[in-house]
Amino acid sequence: MEGSWLVLAAVLIAARAQTNRNDGPRFLSRGHSFRTVVGDTLLLPCQVQNLGSLVLLWRRGPAVLTAASLMVTRDERFRLVDGYNLQITDVGPQDAGDYVCQISDRVARDQVHTVEVLVPPSVRASPESRHAAARRGGAAVLECRAAGNPVPSVTWHKLLSLYPQVVFQNDSNSRLGEGPQLQLSRLERTHSGRYACTVDNGVGPPLVTEFQLQVLYPPEITVERSWVHTGEGFRAELLCTVLADPPAEVTWYQNSFPLSATDRITMSARGNNHTLLIANVQPEDFGNYSCVADNSLGRSRRHVEVSGRPGPARFTSAPLARRPHEYTLSFTVDSYPPLDELRLLYRQLAINESFQQPGRWHDVVIPAPSPAGSLTHRVTHLLTNLQAAAVYEAIVQAKNRYGWNEVSDIFQFHTLGGAHTAHADELTPMFASADTHRLSSFASALALYTLRALA
Ligand SMILES: *[C@@H]1O[C@H](CO)[C@@H](O)[C@H](O)[C@H]1NC(C)=O
Ligand SMILES: *[C@@H]1O[C@H](CO)[C@@H](O)[C@H](O)[C@H]1NC(C)=O
Ligand SMILES: *[C@@H]1O[C@H](CO)[C@@H](O)[C@H](O)[C@H]1NC(C)=O
Ligand SMILES: *[C@@H]1O[C@H](CO)[C@@H](O)[C@H](O)[C@H]1NC(C)=O
Repeated sequence: MEGSWLVLAAVLIAARAQTNRNDGPRFLSRGHSFRTVVGDTLLLPCQVQNLGSLVLLWRRGPAVLTAASLMVTRDERFRLVDGYNLQITDVGPQDAGDYVCQISDRVARDQVHTVEVLVPPSVRASPESRHAAARRGGAAVLECRAAGNPVPSVTWHKLLSLYPQVVFQNDSNSRLGEGPQLQLSRLERTHSGRYACTVDNGVGPPLVTEFQLQVLYPPEITVERSWVHTGEGFRAELLCTVLADPPAEVTWYQNSFPLSATDRITMSARGNNHTLLIANVQPEDFGNYSCVADNSLGRSRRHVEVSGRPGPARFTSAPLARRPHEYTLSFTVDSYPPLDELRLLYRQLAINESFQQPGRWHDVVIPAPSPAGSLTHRVTHLLTNLQAAAVYEAIVQAKNRYGWNEVSDIFQFHTLGGAHTAHADELTPMFASADTHRLSSFASALALYTLRALA
């Protein structure tokens, strides 16, 4: 009997111990890691059972935030909701860290939440004005110091200058690099333009900061034509394209005298194009003109000759003859006044692998074509008694009432083969050989000499 009591007592004690365990405080929630974005509202759960008369504390590090339902912290962004859940509104980067929900006397293990605060990217640009200027050949540094969590990446691009909005050039070249600094050295004119850094850490949209880079350089002039044909009563248009930064001041000169606008002479500028227009050309308008461009870094000058003499002849016939012994040479000459006289020189080039000896020049006076009634005169002339399968070269010169024009470039043509018909591809390599070109420049010098002697 005594043993039964003992058993009963043991059971009772065990049951009581069990009840004690069940009755003690117990967390229903679990510790978690939270990721939140700046400005968001965060709820850290803390649900506990059987708290009894014990007190629940929220701590962050050594600082106590709440005790029971009492707010200890003065930060009004903290609040207890639905019991002991801790709510933080308008989360900031300073809120990152461990939050501990703790039962007084530590009768149960603390519950710990870890809070990570994601911060969207921010950027500090340098130069602050987002405008950098440097001389050609010099260097420039653009800088984007980025902050955020996680640490943002910084990438650099050159932007298409045609578009007002941010448009990335869609090729791998447009991506210039990564990191907070874009260093540009040995600057060229073409480096001028818009650049952008993109700062991104996956939190919120990427941040794009645009810069303007200005490369400063002295004026550079290109002339569309350095020789302009005109005639009395006609007009002449001279065009200088000027690139410069800072923008250049452009002046026009005739034979080293500065020009000013008159009822016949107008100067205009459109973008980089500077035009001198002479209307109703008079004899005194012929001559040597120049456009001069100045900026703070330097000066540049280009000459344009205004002449009444015909323009240089341009050959229009195909280089391969249709027949073995004949060839129809055709070319055009620009001239406002009628052409008075035309002169043609041609000769055979006896070229093979081992032997290069040009033949004798044939000098032909071509009758002037009937007045064209327009600027461009078309001339054709039939050459006969040619060698079959031979290479020839020709030059022409034209005269109007203002004089002879420049001798044309050398033109080469070849006749069809006789017995063994030559094909274009058999002959082509001869045209391409370096020796032929050397020969041609010699021939052109000779031809010039001959023409001058004849004139
Ligand atoms: C950029 O080029 C690639 C391939 O050339 C093409 O697949 C892509 O659609 C292009 N992107 C844009 C925005 O034009
Ligand atoms: C300037 O002249 C060039 C050559 O004639 C032409 O192609 C270009 O369109 C002109 N630009 C402007 C802005 O007129
Ligand atoms: C124009 O004049 C300049 C110097 O004054 C000279 O260098 C240039 O060769 C001349 N051009 C022509 C086509 O006569
Ligand atoms: C090259 O031409 C010369 C002169 O016409 C001739 O004597 C020589 O045989 C030719 N050589 C070849 C390889 O055709």
